[in-house]
Amino acid sequence: MQFALDDELLALQDTARRFADEEVMPVAAEYDQSGEFPRHIIEKAWELGLSTTCIPQEQGGLGLSIEGTCVLTEEIARGCAGIATSVMCNDLGLTPILVGGSQEQKEEWLTPCAESFKLISFCLSESGAGSDVAGMQLRAEKDGDAYLLNGTKAWITNGGEADLYTVFATLDRSSRHKGICAFVVERNTPGLEPGKKEDKLGQRASDTRVVHFDDVRVPARQRLGEEGQGFRIAMETLDRTRPMIGALAVGIARRALEESLAYAKERRAFGSPIGEFQAVQFMLADMAKDIEASRLLTFQCAWMIDNGMRASKQSSMAKCFATDAAMKATVDAVQIFGANGYTKEYPVEKLMRDAKLMQIYEGTNQIQRMVIARELLGQ
Ligand code: CAA
Repeated sequence: MQFALDDELLALQDTARRFADEEVMPVAAEYDQSGEFPRHIIEKAWELGLSTTCIPQEQGGLGLSIEGTCVLTEEIARGCAGIATSVMCNDLGLTPILVGGSQEQKEEWLTPCAESFKLISFCLSESGAGSDVAGMQLRAEKDGDAYLLNGTKAWITNGGEADLYTVFATLDRSSRHKGICAFVVERNTPGLEPGKKEDKLGQRASDTRVVHFDDVRVPARQRLGEEGQGFRIAMETLDRTRPMIGALAVGIARRALEESLAYAKERRAFGSPIGEFQAVQFMLADMAKDIEASRLLTFQCAWMIDNGMRASKQSSMAKCFATDAAMKATVDAVQIFGANGYTKEYPVEKLMRDAKLMQIYEGTNQIQRMVIARELLGQ
């Protein structure tokens, strides 16, 4: 068992920490307020080797392990969860190509993303099919040696900013998961139109939209895997990316603890710093122990994937535990700050708003519990 990061990962962690301190934290409140998309910051992350890290060295990428991606995601999320989500979404969007793409498709689609900065979107959810992936309605219709895609995807991260979209569509709605196919679609394909940007409660720096597909013609060579393999590709993708959501949650919770510790030492009540009161100490202690446990679960899951093991259960455990812990830590941070915590003068209300999304995206925590229970029961 090895709990220490090696020199390479320590150096990566240091770069990500400095990026968060110098580039992300100073502007996080501004982008939270405006809801604008900080494209230049995401591009800076890419220049520093902190984004799109999943591309194998064979295709000119960094070929970073899931463990490494978790290390850097935690650091960036400590600066701003919305920006961290925009950064990690590139790996989410490209993982279907890693999981289901042929050698030629990897060369064609991954290499350009290693050579220059691009944004990628993962188009799975629909307004009527968020948790129930197999119930998706976006239609793929055979048209010679191509497919016509028609329908609308919802809550798509980087939806209005992406250069490349991995898109899941059904050949036959009645076949449920057996009818789903995965495609790579370029932004400039006629008929692909990003729609309304969501005005979100938290993670406001990330771009979340509907994306419309109106007779979008996609050549068959842009289909990943065989017809009907799209559902498996989506599930295997999420197995690989949910630990990153765990790491993102650890970053938020760590920031909540740091802010709370500083405040508890400085803020006085009844003649003492509030950190001397047991009621406050217990909240701080809970945050610290939950952060450690979340990180351990996340790294255990990352280690399993990096070593070629199936990790659906651990992936759901890491995502669910860490995001619930981040929610609790941020609610408690607001409580420790009292009335100050409820104002935008202090950073903790943003952490609380940002944390809420963590329990919803990449599969709600109810879906994660369902996955864990099915695995336990052998269903
Ligand atoms: N790996 C490989 N295969 C898998 C699998 C996995 N992890 N999970 C399921 N499968 C296979 C099953 O073995 C089964 O195979 P057979 O055809 O041989 O029977 C098939 O897929 C169907 O599986 P289920 O019967 O379990 O399917 P289901 O319809 O009951 O749904 C679910 C399963 C777990 C609920 C799934 O729909 C799910 O994960 N929902 C949540 C979706 C989600 O996480 N969305 C997130 C969107 S991305 C996002 O939010 C990111 C962002 O913006 C930043």
